[in-house]
Amino acid sequence: MKIALLSRAPECYSSRRLVEAAQLAGHEIIVLDYLRCRMDIVPGSPKVFYKGEQVHIDAIIPRIAASYTFYGAAVVRQFEMAGVLTSNSSLGISQSRNKLRCHQLLSRKGVDMPITGFAHNIHDIDALLDSVGGTPVILKLLEGSQGKGVVLAETSRSAESIIAAFRKLDANFLVQEYIEEAGGSDIRALVVGKTVVGGMMRNAAEGEFRANLHQGGKAIVIKLSKEEKELALHATRAVGLKIAGVDLIRSSRGPLVLEVNSSPGLEGVEKATGKDIAGRIIKFLEKQQEAKSVSPQAALR
Ligand SMILES: Nc1ncnc2c1ncn2[C@@H]1O[C@H](COP(=O)(O)OP(=O)(O)O)[C@@H](O)[C@H]1O
Ligand SMILES: [Mg+2]
Repeated sequence: MKIALLSRAPECYSSRRLVEAAQLAGHEIIVLDYLRCRMDIVPGSPKVFYKGEQVHIDAIIPRIAASYTFYGAAVVRQFEMAGVLTSNSSLGISQSRNKLRCHQLLSRKGVDMPITGFAHNIHDIDALLDSVGGTPVILKLLEGSQGKGVVLAETSRSAESIIAAFRKLDANFLVQEYIEEAGGSDIRALVVGKTVVGGMMRNAAEGEFRANLHQGGKAIVIKLSKEEKELALHATRAVGLKIAGVDLIRSSRGPLVLEVNSSPGLEGVEKATGKDIAGRIIKFLEKQQEAKSVSPQAALR
């Protein structure tokens, strides 16, 4: 296969590992900065150009950064229009990126998650806080990532001032029940197709409630329960993804989904588990390609 990895960071661990795994499996792989891809949207023959040259490939692996979701998803969609296979669809990427949209889809499909609220015109902040069980509460920017847009408000007073600050910046946010009993730990489950190929527990740094590795969290390997694996697979499907890093949190009422990431980092999970996850992603793409050659619609499902 001729594969294009859509990434703005060819040197990062995940990009390097995917390139290595594709080459090892005998594929040709190029890395394209999707912001430099231009689209010709013409009747009957959608095309993508990279630095002036038309791109001819069989498959793409999109790794779209949170800050470029709109343009990146448009590039992925253009490849889809041209019949190119993709490891994740443009729809799945856009749906999972926005935390509100993601939670709405999860809720429709009955996926367990912390109680979550969203409101525009809050006359009564106390009522909104009460709807998720009262303080302490979590406030989350809709498009944050790596823990950067997630805040814990311990009292109504602090929630009010954080909400006022978000408002001033015109930033949309979710209000969420704080799962205190998780004690600063969460679980990252790596889903590839219909399998959870790796899992790890991340423990937040001292004095921190966010378990993200970017916030100093430390990863350890754990065995996910059957229920956790099924929840991760269910959440991935619900938002229309095939490859995902699903964040789960262990609550007193069982595992809950925090978010579904379409471009999960591979370093933490490969190093913690010792597994060749990049290789699993390439294998999955090969299977999809086989299915597509039998029935062009099959790979889309
Ligand atoms: N409702 C919650 N209760 C307790 N901890 C939470 C909650 N939501 C998020 N966290 C912590 O904050 C981290 C980041 O939240 P997440 O929703 O995954 O956003 P991001 O996209 O920034 O990673 C999680 O990994 C978890 O450790
Ligand atoms: Mg997360």
